[in-house]
This record gives sequence, C-alpha cells and structure tokens, in this order.
Amino acid sequence: MAVIAPSILAADFSRLGQQVDAALKAGVETLHLDIMDGHFVSNISFGPDIAADVVSRAKKKGVSVDAHLMVTMPENYINAFAAIGVDLLTFHLELDSRRRALPENRWVYGASEIRYVSRINHVIELIQKANMKVGLAVNPPTDPKLAAPFMEKIDRFLIMSVNPGFGGQGFIEETYAKIERTVKYRAKKNLSFDIQVDGGIGTENAARLAELGVDSLVCGTSFFGAKDIAARLKELNGQIVSC
Ligand code: DX5
Ligand code: ZN
Repeated sequence: MAVIAPSILAADFSRLGQQVDAALKAGVETLHLDIMDGHFVSNISFGPDIAADVVSRAKKKGVSVDAHLMVTMPENYINAFAAIGVDLLTFHLELDSRRRALPENRWVYGASEIRYVSRINHVIELIQKANMKVGLAVNPPTDPKLAAPFMEKIDRFLIMSVNPGFGGQGFIEETYAKIERTVKYRAKKNLSFDIQVDGGIGTENAARLAELGVDSLVCGTSFFGAKDIAARLKELNGQIVSC
C-alpha cells in the first residue's frame, strides 16, 4: 500500500522539533529529508547535524527516515547519514551529467547518457556497506531507462515530479507516463524496488499516483503547509488507502 512521506523541507524551521513531533503524533509512517548542496540544485537546505535531531525523534517512535541527496558528491555524505541512523539513502543518476539552465537563476542536471557507470555502482556499494538501503533518483529531463543497469541493485527508484531544489512547485504531468513505464518495467523484470515520487503531490493527485503503483508519495507543502497536519494526513491517507 502507498505511504505518505512528508518532506521536512516544507516544515517551519523556526520550530522544527515541534513540527516533527506534530507529524509523528499525527501518525506518519516515514519522513523524507531533502538534502541540497547548492551545486547539484540551486538551493541549500540542511545537513546531517540538523537531520540528526529529526532522525532521533523519528526513531523513538519507530518511524523510518529516508534522505534524498541532491548533491554533486554523495560519496562525501554516506557515513554521516549512516551515523545518524537514516534508513535509506537516495542519490541522483545525473552525477557527471549536463546542467541545464532554468528561469530565475535555477538549473537542473539531466542525463542523456550515463558516462560513468562504475561511479554509480561504487556509490551504491558504499551505501550498502554503510548498512543503509539504496535509492536512485532521476530528474524530469532524464529518461528512467538510463537507470536500467542499476535497477536490480536498488531498494528504491525516486522519480522527481518537479525540477529539484524547491518545494511548492507544480507537478510535472509527463511524470505519469514515466511512472507507468517504470511500474511495467519492474513487473516485467520481476524486480522489487519501491517507487517514490517527489514534488507537487497533494490531495488532488495522490489517489492517481497510488493507483498507478507508486509506493511512496513525498508531500512537502501539501503536508506541512496545512493548518491541521493530522487532518491533512488523514485526508491524504484516505485518498491512497483504497488503491
Ligand atoms: C524538491 C523537493 C520537493 C519536496 C516536496 O527538490 O524534493 O519536491 O520534497 O515539496 P512539495 O511537496 O512542496 O512539492
Ligand atoms: Zn526529495
């Protein structure tokens, strides 16, 4: 069954501990950490030190935490996130790819080929050696089929439904076709990775995503932007539970 994964990026950082406790009290099953280095994406979010308090609060309630590394050098952060107890670490397929300019001095890395397969495999191995599950993420400009050589090794495939870097963006409609192709590929190859979608998800599209076979729906603004996050979680879960 699909799970709602609230993104801490959208929380009120002036009272982060309270926001995390409120999410845990509301009954979230997992939390999503959006880690940004200001290089892979045109924004800087937070690092392992801030994440440590979030993870420790979640662990006390038996809630899992995944970290989504939107960083150019994921190798540099694996041990730090393992040390704080992150369960699953996701990095991007677009390492060493081309940077494409976007409006408002933003950018997105998009891969039209994977030049360094050995590096992707190396990062996967480093994450596994650090006893975390492995996620691989693709940006909107990247065709998911480029991830084929790695699909048997990963626990999660993250399909970005916005250009990474900022919460509160609109869901990119072309993502639906990508999800359908990925669900079909997973079934055809009898693979077991879960599919996470990240960006622009809320009550207006959660049901459709769950019906398509998405396992984890990252909700930032639609969750932490709600007046009553417990009621919003109920609403979101109500959309996906029957799928
Ligand atoms: C973008 C971030 C966002 C965030 C979700 O890099 O990864 O997608 O998690 O934000 P909302 O739900 O506000 O789009
Ligand atoms: Zn994310």
